[in-house]
Amino acid sequence: MSPLTTLDAAQWDGPRDPAATARAARELEAGNVLFLPRLKFALAADEQRFLSPQWSDGKAKNVSYDPLAAEIRHTSAQDDDRRQLAAMMARFAQQARQLVLSLCPGYAPHLRWGLTSFRPVETHGRESSRKKDDTRLHVDAFASRPNQGLRILRVFCNVNPRGEPRVWELGEPFDAVAQRFRDRVPPQWPGSAWLLERLHVTKGRRSAYDHIMLNLHDKAKLDDAYQQASPKTRIEFPAQSTWLVFTDRVMHAALAGQFLFEQTFYLPVAAMQDERYAPLRILEELFQRKLA
Ligand code: SIN
Ligand code: FE
Repeated sequence: MSPLTTLDAAQWDGPRDPAATARAARELEAGNVLFLPRLKFALAADEQRFLSPQWSDGKAKNVSYDPLAAEIRHTSAQDDDRRQLAAMMARFAQQARQLVLSLCPGYAPHLRWGLTSFRPVETHGRESSRKKDDTRLHVDAFASRPNQGLRILRVFCNVNPRGEPRVWELGEPFDAVAQRFRDRVPPQWPGSAWLLERLHVTKGRRSAYDHIMLNLHDKAKLDDAYQQASPKTRIEFPAQSTWLVFTDRVMHAALAGQFLFEQTFYLPVAAMQDERYAPLRILEELFQRKLA
């Protein structure tokens, strides 16, 4: 089975072919990447200047934007530049939402905003610790933002102006990852989740689910032998293409590429077409207890 499902759409908004939308949510939930090779995010002439690493603040990997608060962070841009950069990211956020809602109309009442990110720095060769290194296979789990089992759905768009692809690897299925690393998940100490929240290390309470997901993320990234030997498929997402994936379920690594937009959404498990595909349900089955 190919891990990619290709859709021919060239518009961010509907109307969609009903057969395509029936498939979209099903295949996403089952762990496929929905790939839209003809869907591009158009930059205005005076936005082209933002295609430069100079707009990162040099500390964070990505410029980030909060669509709910309309706030931009981690950028060197000031004044008019800052407003225009924020407007560009806000436009991407809106288009990404239209895309998800037109492909998966069933998610509409439940879909929650996450952050928008713009990634103007080359991924390949960037310095980072192994745990933060996204060139290593991982499922997404956020140390400071526990989500109690909510699904993480992300929309990516490669806007590289030199025609360079974003190069990813996809790894083994989630069930296999969970089986492999389950014995390396340490107990979550009573009171630790409360303390982390109290100390503002986490935004909200880290559930048993978050604890396990974070461990799957960390243990997989820290295991050199696993990173080398585990089965993987290399994928090149061409410049001016878009793709969507539930990154909490699909093992992925970004090996190379520069200039990417990404929008995060959260989806309650109950809003899925088939909850059995949720990492929460798979882990509850594996650990034989409620996790969130
Ligand atoms: C990631 O989500 O791990 C990185 C994706 C990317 O930057 O291409
Ligand atoms: Fe990731």
